[in-house]
Amino acid sequence: MNADPIAAFYRWIEYAAFGKALERRRFAFLSRAARARRVLILGEGDGRFLARFLAVNDAAQVDVVEASAAMLALARERLPAPAARRVRFHHQDALSAPLPADSYDLIVTHFFLDCFAADDAARLIARLAAALLPGGAWIVSEFEEPPGRVARLHARLWLSVMYTFFRFTTGLTAGKLPPYAALLSRAGLIREEQQQARWGLMVSQLWRKPAAADAPQHSFDTLPLCGFP
Ligand SMILES: C[S@@+](CC[C@H](N)C(=O)[O-])C[C@H]1O[C@@H](n2cnc3c(N)ncnc32)[C@H](O)[C@@H]1O
Repeated sequence: MNADPIAAFYRWIEYAAFGKALERRRFAFLSRAARARRVLILGEGDGRFLARFLAVNDAAQVDVVEASAAMLALARERLPAPAARRVRFHHQDALSAPLPADSYDLIVTHFFLDCFAADDAARLIARLAAALLPGGAWIVSEFEEPPGRVARLHARLWLSVMYTFFRFTTGLTAGKLPPYAALLSRAGLIREEQQQARWGLMVSQLWRKPAAADAPQHSFDTLPLCGFP
């Protein structure tokens, strides 16, 4: 997927299709992120979540992994200078980016896991789960196919429109949602909270990696520093 051609219009396309509904999903668990100290955001896009996150969290160090140079440029422009000093931008494919184990107390993926076919999503989620510290959180915003005939039909129509749009504009090869919730569970994470919107088409989820029984739980205040190569 190459999001460069649509980066400048991305937010306006989103607002035209969904108003502020996706924005509300991204910010649903923002208050839970206020004490995070080592944060990894994947597929950030144009920086709207990043800017809001840095405004509520004045101490976190953030790694952003984003494959689109145009999206990264927009995200950089959006940040005031002091906040930008806490962010390292990595222009990389998340599938091949180095992800040091046990390094982050918060991972954020908003409308990102839907960019991957099931096998790529499985590999990526397993690597990301390993990069998360025991006790760490993972905030997910995603689309979903909810149960219920009408709600499912509504979701399938929207998903079909969106996958077609992104295939033609960005070359996205994935054609349907990967089973991301099952993959997160398989990677050992536990879903603590969920909010739904638009008849279940959109969800915000808060997942957590259990603290190791025989290891001290990492609090947000006592994290080791890690180096993103
Ligand atoms: C659908 S957009 C979502 C953007 C933003 N997170 C949001 O909430 O709207 C997907 C983003 O993930 C990025 N992306 C897609 N595949 C990627 C990959 N393999 N590695 C890193 N970034 C990727 C795209 O460039 C794009 O910015």
